[in-house]
Amino acid sequence: MKIYKTKNYEEMSKKAAQIMAAQVTLKPDCVLGLATGSTPVGAYGHLIQWCKDGLLDFSQVKTVNLDEYKGLTPDNDQSYRYFMNKNLFSGINISMENTHVPNGAETDSQKACSQYNAIIAGMGGIDLQLLGIGHDGHIGFNEPGDSFELETHCVDLTPLTIEANKRFFEKAEDVPRQAYTMGIRNIMLARKILFVISGEDKAEILKKSVEGPVTPQVPASVLQLHPDVMLVADEAALSLMKL
Ligand code: F6R
Repeated sequence: MKIYKTKNYEEMSKKAAQIMAAQVTLKPDCVLGLATGSTPVGAYGHLIQWCKDGLLDFSQVKTVNLDEYKGLTPDNDQSYRYFMNKNLFSGINISMENTHVPNGAETDSQKACSQYNAIIAGMGGIDLQLLGIGHDGHIGFNEPGDSFELETHCVDLTPLTIEANKRFFEKAEDVPRQAYTMGIRNIMLARKILFVISGEDKAEILKKSVEGPVTPQVPASVLQLHPDVMLVADEAALSLMKL
């Protein structure tokens, strides 16, 4: 794991965006695995700006997002599809048909998940997967205890994740109870992983994930076994690590 230590969130965002931009420049028809949540928003902002400045071209890029709430349609402003359109896709010159998010409107979980696995396989896998981390160590919506073997599947969200995500909804009861997520297997098959983390509140789980034992109880710990992980984290997030 290559660790980039940055001063703060802004520097973390710029570094992460530079790594993503390098991927797009080196392989203009690359497949980017993308994430939602607050952490990547700053990096997406840089990508939008560089694209507007003519420094980056997304016209051949394909994307595949980690996850989506089951039951939310793309026009729902809490859906991850809506988030991606708003925070990245609408600001760059990507073809919308090249962007993929699990189909939250599909009620048949098996169908939604197998279709998504087929999409990823059809694109030849993921060149660079962007990941954030939850306070319980989840990546995508792979919660503690989920098998490392799984591909895209339907999960029941844990109370901790519902609690953490309720900030985006009017009230906790509005947070969907299930989601479709790429599995750890899909993530581990990505050729490169860009892991972004900011803030003191993530310091303990980051330490556990990077310095603790590899265990499904800490889903992100599996990244210790991936051959090409770039961790971009700010000082606050790295504050408990030995380095
Ligand atoms: C989002 C995702 C989640 C988030 C994680 C951290 O697509 O897969 O695993 O990366 O919950 O979220 P933030 O960045 O909001 O702290």
